[in-house]
Amino acid sequence: MKNIVILISGRGSNMEALIRARDAGELPVNIAAVISNRPDAEGLATAQAAGIATWVMNHKAFPDRESFDAALAECIDDFAPDLVVLAGFMRILTEEFVRHYEGRLLNIHPSLLPSFPGLHTHQQALDEGVRLHGCTVHFVTPALDHGPVILQAAVPVLDGDDEATLAARVLAQEHRIYPQAVRWFAEGRLRLEGGKIRLDAPLDGTGALISPVLR
Ligand code: GAR
Repeated sequence: MKNIVILISGRGSNMEALIRARDAGELPVNIAAVISNRPDAEGLATAQAAGIATWVMNHKAFPDRESFDAALAECIDDFAPDLVVLAGFMRILTEEFVRHYEGRLLNIHPSLLPSFPGLHTHQQALDEGVRLHGCTVHFVTPALDHGPVILQAAVPVLDGDDEATLAARVLAQEHRIYPQAVRWFAEGRLRLEGGKIRLDAPLDGTGALISPVLR
């Protein structure tokens, strides 16, 4: 079974969706640890209540981004993860950190990338007047909110939406697609090859394809 480490900065609802999927038998992973860069992240209590080891790596205790990322990587690597899952981890990562986890670092972002990287994505979508918005799971590359797209979900932008109603509609989709993408990785079907996504179809017990790959 694959070992994963989840990084959070706040509420941790995406982390919770992963824990729920694991508990429902739909996500065959060992969640080795949850690490937060903020000591007050709400998600820490949720992880602890689920019996998962938690760790705080407070970025404010480090003089610069490089030293924080090096310490963070050391902390992560103590758990020997196959996959590192950014779940609302609100830090810009150094190129060195990202390269260290190449092909085994996932992020979820609340927009249909490459539209609206960065912060306040729902307000950006409302300001632009787009009719479709959504979320993206991607492998992480050194550019912020960028990288090969694994899975996206779109939602309509409705008349009368504000940032909160739109965010809630997108978040429900985040909770659906993140466990799905992590599951593909856990099953050994998803990998990064030459900078592109490779997703193999599932196999039955005899090694035959049981369904076409739908992405
Ligand atoms: C989520 O909407 C996630 O997509 C976003 O932060 C929120 C965290 O919520 N991540 C980013 O914006 C990354 N650029 P959560 O803590 O409840 O999972």
